Amino acid sequence: MKGIVMAGGTGTRLYPLTVAVSKQLLPVYDKPMVYYPLSTLMLAGIREILILSTHSDLPRYEQLLGDGSRFGTRLEYIEQPSPDGVAQAFLLGESFIADEPCAIILGDNIFYGTGMQKAMKDAADKADAGHATLFCRWVKNPERFGVVEFNKHGSVISVEEKPAHPRSNYCITGLFYYPKGVSRLARKVQRSPRGELELPSLNAMYMELGLLDAEVLEHDFTWLDTGLVDTLADAAAFVRSTQAETGRRIAALEEIAFRNGWISKDILLDAAEQYGKSQYGQYLKKIAEN
Ligand code: TTP
Repeated sequence: MKGIVMAGGTGTRLYPLTVAVSKQLLPVYDKPMVYYPLSTLMLAGIREILILSTHSDLPRYEQLLGDGSRFGTRLEYIEQPSPDGVAQAFLLGESFIADEPCAIILGDNIFYGTGMQKAMKDAADKADAGHATLFCRWVKNPERFGVVEFNKHGSVISVEEKPAHPRSNYCITGLFYYPKGVSRLARKVQRSPRGELELPSLNAMYMELGLLDAEVLEHDFTWLDTGLVDTLADAAAFVRSTQAETGRRIAALEEIAFRNGWISKDILLDAAEQYGKSQYGQYLKKIAEN
């Protein structure tokens, strides 16, 4: 199973914050935003991960994350010359995916909750069986999102983008699993009226084939899209208060790698050392010593 983090885009809704800084490098409390989607893939056991971003921003991601070995992963980087739609990732990343199943996560989405690993394991099993999976959740205002409709057996029977009259309250989040062959199908996606290769068009193809499933995230579960000034501030407040309550850090990549058995205690201690006197560094040191 391969993973892709989408860290391109223009972030215009966050201007002027994102005029000179890529959105996914902005801080969410104590870490750069991209740590959070990366941690989601790592918690699902995915170690080979592709980061897509723009020509000017890609060197910053490489500076931040390197080859990923510090946290037990293998990272690759590919330029998305312009934000031509998320489905383009499967064309640009075709040789990286190498005809394996693939999870893709939007770089501005944060997922936090105990059921996540089980839901992702189920999606991975379905991907092995040839099915694509959307991660959805119930919201009050579905018209702002992609919306999925289920029949009484729980099968997906419609997917609509920002519908004026939503057929359900289940919105589509920024995490998707696809089976092998996704790049071949993505080649058939036509550009939308706004000129993008959009994920909803790809999802519609899987639905037509009867191969589109959905995992519904329950309400004890937190999903944050940090694309607006207020939601970015909310996300920082959530991370701060949750970490203070639990004493555990969200998206501490080296800790996840250590607990997954991907890096040794010595590598964890080296990483802690590199983060110096920061609270994050001190936290990693404590994890290694206990
Ligand atoms: P969007 O929120 O659709 O776009 P954006 O990040 O450019 O922001 P804005 O609407 O404020 O201009 O993108 C969602 C996520 O997907 C975000 O993390 C950027 C990423 N993305 C890409 O990496 N490439 C793309 O082609 C698109 C459309 C999005």
